[in-house]
Amino acid sequence: MDKSLGLYVHIPYCLKKCRYCDFVSYPAGDKLPLSPDEYAYRVCDEIGSAPEEIKKGYEVDSIFFGGGTPSCMGTDMIGRILLAIKDNYSISQVAEISIEANPETVTEKKAKNLKYLGFNRVSMGVQSLNDGILKNLGRVHDSEKALEAYHILRDAGFGNINLDLMFGVPGQSIEIWEDTLDRTIALGPEHISFYSLQIEEGTPFYEEYKEGVLEIPTWEENRKMYELALRKLKDVGYVHYEVSNAAKPGFECRHNLKYWTMKPYLGFGTGAHSFLEGKRFYNTDELEYTREYEEEENTLHERMGDFVFTQLRLIDGIDLKQFKELFGKDFEDVFGELLEDKGLSEYLIIVRDFSGRLAKVALSRKGLDNTNIVLQRFLMAIDNIT
Ligand SMILES: C[S@@+](CC[C@H](N)C(=O)[O-])C[C@H]1O[C@@H](n2cnc3c(N)ncnc32)[C@H](O)[C@@H]1O
Ligand code: SF4
Repeated sequence: MDKSLGLYVHIPYCLKKCRYCDFVSYPAGDKLPLSPDEYAYRVCDEIGSAPEEIKKGYEVDSIFFGGGTPSCMGTDMIGRILLAIKDNYSISQVAEISIEANPETVTEKKAKNLKYLGFNRVSMGVQSLNDGILKNLGRVHDSEKALEAYHILRDAGFGNINLDLMFGVPGQSIEIWEDTLDRTIALGPEHISFYSLQIEEGTPFYEEYKEGVLEIPTWEENRKMYELALRKLKDVGYVHYEVSNAAKPGFECRHNLKYWTMKPYLGFGTGAHSFLEGKRFYNTDELEYTREYEEEENTLHERMGDFVFTQLRLIDGIDLKQFKELFGKDFEDVFGELLEDKGLSEYLIIVRDFSGRLAKVALSRKGLDNTNIVLQRFLMAIDNIT
């Protein structure tokens, strides 16, 4: 049995809230019920209080500090949390240890300290290299600072950097997007995430969208932008491995792959999720979150829905062997009718081996543009299982 484990630490502070973002995060300068330092101590307690059989029974091969903006917390406190992890868990020599950063927080000193603490991967939110777009998004940095931060990280010795980009955002033309893509690719990061803007309830963008004053590219333009990213990234050797993620070979993000392939991970901090021994747990999502895990009772239907939902995002598609292991049924026995459906055939890539057995089910290029249609059909089929 695979005894590797991923750890996630949520740091819910940012310099300032961006206009599109609904992640659990608060501006660090605001008057808050817990200061970043107090919060860090609480996370350390939570790390130490996990059951011994979990702490001793697994080897951690991926640690991810996400947010929010973990890089806006002092490195002394980040170090404390990392130390609590090292004191309580057995960490693989080759663990991927990542931290998310906002360019504005990246200084030479901070980059060196993070490297010294043991981080070997940084995931930085760049979003765009156009200053007008960055302003529209409500970002705290400009494009020059984003480029400077990238070079600081490289000079500090980081050999594994991800840059997040966003497309389909207000004021963005295809030319502006192409320019950001070209200049980002020219930097040569090991990994690039390219997210289509999601309008999230409770954000300023949502309010403007409802009022009809948020001017975003049309769906056709959005898809052209996506297509352009796929083509340009492929041309220079990035592997498109998930709907919104591409990496140089061997640099696929280990932490994200754990989510998408349903491998065990434990989350610490507010709103953090865990998935262990087939069960999902959630921490509450206020700043003074409780250490008690809120365990969800998952029905077979929910677990199957989760599985299809996460694995279809992978470009390689669903792991049919893992499906059988988890649910004790052949994928084809559950979804045979749906796989025969002509109406879905253009959205799916279905491959059979020489003996006619199902070898692969993945989204086609058209399926990637219409994930909702496909997922809905799978969920309906799951609902019909007795
Ligand atoms: C936790 S942030 C990354 C680190 C840091 N907080 C920053 O923004 O620079 C995660 C990423 O999610 C993406 N993101 C957040 N909200 C989004 C939305 N509504 N639509 C699409 N992408 C979004 C952005 O690309 C962002 O960089
Ligand atoms: S995108 Fe990043 S910096 Fe902006 S509010 Fe969200 S978590 Fe904070």
